[in-house]
Amino acid sequence: MTLPSRVRVVEVGPRDGLQNEKQPIATDIKVELIHRLAEAGVTYIEAGSFVNPKWIPQMAGSEEVFQQIRRDPGVTYAALTPNLQGYQRAIASGVSEVAIFAAASEAFSQQNINCSVAESIERFAPVMTAAANDNVRVRGYVSCVVGCPYEGEVATGKVADVARQLFDMGCYEVSMGDTIGVGTPASVSAMLEATLEYIPAAQLAVHLHDTYGQALANIYASMQLGIATIDSSVAGLGGCPYAKGASGNVASEDVIYLLNGLGIEHGIDLDKLIAAGNFISRELGKDSNSKVARARLK
Ligand code: HMG
Ligand code: MG
Repeated sequence: MTLPSRVRVVEVGPRDGLQNEKQPIATDIKVELIHRLAEAGVTYIEAGSFVNPKWIPQMAGSEEVFQQIRRDPGVTYAALTPNLQGYQRAIASGVSEVAIFAAASEAFSQQNINCSVAESIERFAPVMTAAANDNVRVRGYVSCVVGCPYEGEVATGKVADVARQLFDMGCYEVSMGDTIGVGTPASVSAMLEATLEYIPAAQLAVHLHDTYGQALANIYASMQLGIATIDSSVAGLGGCPYAKGASGNVASEDVIYLLNGLGIEHGIDLDKLIAAGNFISRELGKDSNSKVARARLK
């Protein structure tokens, strides 16, 4: 199959990246990161999360972040909402759209959102109803689509089934998360092929953590299957609070470099994106996890 001519990049750094940082991060730093990403041409920014702040303290300030960000035209400012309570907080904060998140593995579902996979789907039903009434689009995530930190390998049939349920409930897109970054082009392709039985490629995204350094190869394999929406995290920020040892998402800068090399359109200015990643890395007092950003350091 030929590669897509244009790719939509979903920037998850301000949420998936920062949720995992141990040190407190001031709201104005988060706000500046989001502004810099929009200035770089990023059109979809997951800017926060309306979960229980006791579980994810780093996202406790999401209300303030949404109050303070400038809304650039053409940019979607999204947030995670695990239940109706989170959805209501998100709407009161003026989010552009929300995302619900389920897992393909029972043990991860219990650890992450304190309920079984089936219960999580039931919990999302009132969110979908409220969102339909409010005309708010809902994105769906499936975690542990290749492997689970507690259960090991996850069957492709189970992954496809959970993705199908989110899609059938009305998610306009389902993002397939290799939460612990164990996939290879072979296992990611097999998982996507099973899911493509139910969901068209245009409504699937990949969300690949880079723990084993396979994310870019997995993205290439996904694009060969027609996937044209890629989640990534500036400076490769992040990990997963419920998946010990998992590293951040694939770095956005590295994805853009790959797309540039392949002549695939994306609308993002690589230099400005690198500057945004260097800004947050400096603020966090750590080196960027983006190889491209490191190569460009003078
Ligand atoms: P629970 O404890 O089962 O919920 O948590 P509950 O309904 O029994 O409520 C317990 C308490 O939580 C109550 O407070 C509620 O008010 C409060 P109390 O009476 O004890 O003071 N509560 C809330 N507070 C604020 N906002 C809310 C909310 N909901 C309940 N929305 C829940 C269930 C899902 C809320 C909890 O387990 C939770 O917040 N988990 C957070 C999980 C999370 O954020 N994980 C990281 C994001 S997922 C991810 O990173 C994967 C992804 O990137 C894809 C990939 O890589 O695979 C998306
Ligand atoms: Mg993630």
